[in-house]
Amino acid sequence: MKIFIDTANIDEIREANDYGLIDGVTTNPTLISKAQKNGKSFSDIASEILRTVNGPVSLEVVSEKSDEMVQQALKLHNLGSNAVIKIPMTLEGLKTMKILKEKSISVNTTLVFNPVQALLAAKNGASYVSPFVGRLDDIGEDGMSIINQIKTIFTNYNISTEILVASVRNPVHVLRAAIIGADVVTVPFDVIKKLTTHPKTDEGLSRFMDDWKKVSPDGSLPL
Ligand code: G3P
Repeated sequence: MKIFIDTANIDEIREANDYGLIDGVTTNPTLISKAQKNGKSFSDIASEILRTVNGPVSLEVVSEKSDEMVQQALKLHNLGSNAVIKIPMTLEGLKTMKILKEKSISVNTTLVFNPVQALLAAKNGASYVSPFVGRLDDIGEDGMSIINQIKTIFTNYNISTEILVASVRNPVHVLRAAIIGADVVTVPFDVIKKLTTHPKTDEGLSRFMDDWKKVSPDGSLPL
């Protein structure tokens, strides 16, 4: 399973990338607007992210009309060869996905909240579909259940569109995504860091270090 980081914060991206923890990046207008508070332009932020990671970087259009989405997608596509264009799961978005597929531009269909939306996006050529599991949990549904359903549908019809689990709120979302067999999970940095830790790991390492210092007071390894 690929792990993307869900942020436009270049410092978080660099740190996670240096740890070898991420295979790509997803952004959205909210995340970009947070990053622009540092006075950087959209294209500066996007270009910096595209240069920082080798993997796919999702950049979202900010129009709801197909003709404008297509124009914005072409400009975003030209920012870098690893740019993936985020298009919302709407009728105008479906029309846009079809056009971008004909232009061989990779699309991540976003704001997906049920399995049939995912199927329609895949039929219109999306490379990725992004079901927002956390926002479904937020309204008392089991967001991960639609991941299961999408996986079944995509398997039934041998659909190659990748399931990109989004709106992740905790490590259990990542675990369940991996058990279900999602292709990608996109995770905020604070959740990524939670994936790596366990109190028993910390406890065990501390005990190893303490025991070693009993025979090597300065903690060195005399090789
Ligand atoms: O970036 C897409 C998605 O992961 C955002 O989800 O619910 O954290 O805003 P959310």
